[in-house]
Amino acid sequence: MECRVRKTDVVQKMLHGRTAGQSIAHREQGVAYAPTNIALCKYWGKRDTELNLPVTASLSIALPDKGAMTTLTFNEGKVDTVILNGTPLDADSLFVKRIARYLDLFRAENQWHLNLDIKMNIPAAAGLASSACGFASIACALNDLFQWQLQPQELSVLARLGSGSAARSLWNGFVLWHEGIREDGMDSVGEPLTCEWPSLRVGILPLSDAEKPISSREAMLRTVNSSALYASWPRKVSQDLAIFKQALKVRNFSLLAGTAESNALSMHATMLSSWPPICYTLPETLAAMQQIWRLRASGIEVYFTQDAGPNLKLLFLEAQTAVLADEFPNMEIIKVFD
Ligand code: DP6
Repeated sequence: MECRVRKTDVVQKMLHGRTAGQSIAHREQGVAYAPTNIALCKYWGKRDTELNLPVTASLSIALPDKGAMTTLTFNEGKVDTVILNGTPLDADSLFVKRIARYLDLFRAENQWHLNLDIKMNIPAAAGLASSACGFASIACALNDLFQWQLQPQELSVLARLGSGSAARSLWNGFVLWHEGIREDGMDSVGEPLTCEWPSLRVGILPLSDAEKPISSREAMLRTVNSSALYASWPRKVSQDLAIFKQALKVRNFSLLAGTAESNALSMHATMLSSWPPICYTLPETLAAMQQIWRLRASGIEVYFTQDAGPNLKLLFLEAQTAVLADEFPNMEIIKVFD
């Protein structure tokens, strides 16, 4: 796809030239936390790969206590350094290079370099959206360091330039990420929904920590380019979003969670029909799905969603906590509206 607007154009527009010049006002350090988010209606496919603009809107729920805390300080040398959960990362690692490229958007050549101390309490690269909270926390920590005083929706645009799903990691609760229609993506932002559901629970079910066979970035591109089923995906998303809005309005849990499960399975069906095929589901994943379907057939309201990895996130209400903790002893249960 042709890239008309560059990431740097978006940053310039957003910051009104505040990245240029040698002496920029800043604090000693910038600190910010961002929660990770789980998509109930998935983002799968880009209308612009440069700006991470999605083909469709998507809807997520934040996990308030699972996320990334980033502390930024200046590095006097000519390199950026990253410490992840106390371990210094190799300057040549893909993660450090991706972060350095992101920082390049905000600086003139060699203008400044940073030490990033990132603490994440979620397993990286296990389909738990670590890039979402990672880039959202870096964007917010830059805002703190340079005192840009940007609003969350503006930070959502900047976070998206790092990773699409990061556009939703600026808030707790339910967040709708609009696909937008503008070429520069300024209208493709997250919007927090004013809807609380205190009895809602998300269970994180780790099933495998094997490396992903393919990154979600590449997998999305391949799906859009080769899956015959992808043509029906935007229609599925718009139908599901209408159902989600209704389910949230009337607090219908089975409608909400059933639609989330169906949405995830449809996304994975588009991947399976790509060429070469993409399959994140492992035998353990399928066994857990079958266990969930059996439980549901016996009257226990539990549903799942799955991202670009083999692990599942279960959706259920407080009343089912005891029985599900028993069924899935490895599951970590999150109160999403604590
Ligand atoms: C399956 O946001 O990781 O989790 O924009 O290329 O960084 P990039 O992709 P990313 O994709 C997330 C895909 C997903 C679905 C979702 O979170 O909506």
